[in-house]
Amino acid sequence: MGEIRSVAVIGAGVMGASIAAHAANAGVDVLLVDIVKPGAVERNAIACATIERLKKMEPAPLMGSRAARLITAGNIEDDLVAVGRCDWIVEAVVEKLEVKQALYARLDAVRKEGSVVSSNTSTIPLRELTAGMPEGLARDFCITHFFNPPRYMRLLEMVGGEGEAFAPLRGFLDQGMGKTVVSCKDTPGFIANRIGTYWVQCAMVLALEMGLEVEEADAVMGKAMGFPSTGVFGLIDMVGIDLALHVNASLARLLPEGDVFHAMNRHGAVFTQLVAEGFTGNKGKGGFYRSARGADGKKQ
Ligand code: NAI
Repeated sequence: MGEIRSVAVIGAGVMGASIAAHAANAGVDVLLVDIVKPGAVERNAIACATIERLKKMEPAPLMGSRAARLITAGNIEDDLVAVGRCDWIVEAVVEKLEVKQALYARLDAVRKEGSVVSSNTSTIPLRELTAGMPEGLARDFCITHFFNPPRYMRLLEMVGGEGEAFAPLRGFLDQGMGKTVVSCKDTPGFIANRIGTYWVQCAMVLALEMGLEVEEADAVMGKAMGFPSTGVFGLIDMVGIDLALHVNASLARLLPEGDVFHAMNRHGAVFTQLVAEGFTGNKGKGGFYRSARGADGKKQ
């Protein structure tokens, strides 16, 4: 296959909508699909709003005004065949192995020869994603792990994707989307989430064992530590507490017994509780920040 000219993004959530906008901004046709039918127009609006923000960025984005019309938002049931015609299909659906694998089986039936497929998973190992996958798809499959928000974060972790078939994708990620592609081994949490999880655990200890407010813990573990905009709790709210719960559970399952993660992971139940109460972070009704406040904005 030559260059990447068309991209299908599956899952129009926090990451998918933003990846779609960023890819469109690099000048390729983008099809953004989700299972949520009534939400398609709304999600397209999210993607377009992301493009509007991109346009205001300095230096000026690559394609500017062309980008908005390059995105088509739709529904996977109606658009599966169109997804199969794209050069690169990137899956950004919920962090559940069984949901992702069921989707790959459907993609295998429709995707065109020479296309590449990747997952944006945060923590599911490549070997688990590809277990039982048809050989042809497994050969053309890799992990492309973007960071949130995709338009600002330059790092992209790639697991697999070493062969010649992936050269156009690597070129597009690097030159088209402006990412610094780092090849990772198929280890738990790859590189960034493995390290990042210790940062999260430290913040939980500060807040829950030393009695700091989330704002105070963020002040210590945020800008003061050289992080650009937010501290740990603000970041978890942005990422999604439901996802943080999945990442925690994955690492707990994948890391060996003696790993320091297990000793530090004393407060994972907080994520479970917040999600059970509907506090999934910024994409929902709030998370660590708004959950600590009443509707009037006062601390409870
Ligand atoms: P999200 O929960 O915001 O969005 C997931 C979307 O997938 C939803 O809109 C849902 O309706 C859709 N979906 C579920 N099943 C589907 C299916 N079978 N077909 C089509 N659409 C389907 O999730 P988010 O946060 O965007 O995460 C997506 C992936 O990206 C996950 O694998 C996650 O681990 C990964 N990721 C998330 C990051 C974050 O900061 N939120 C950062 C890096 C990776």
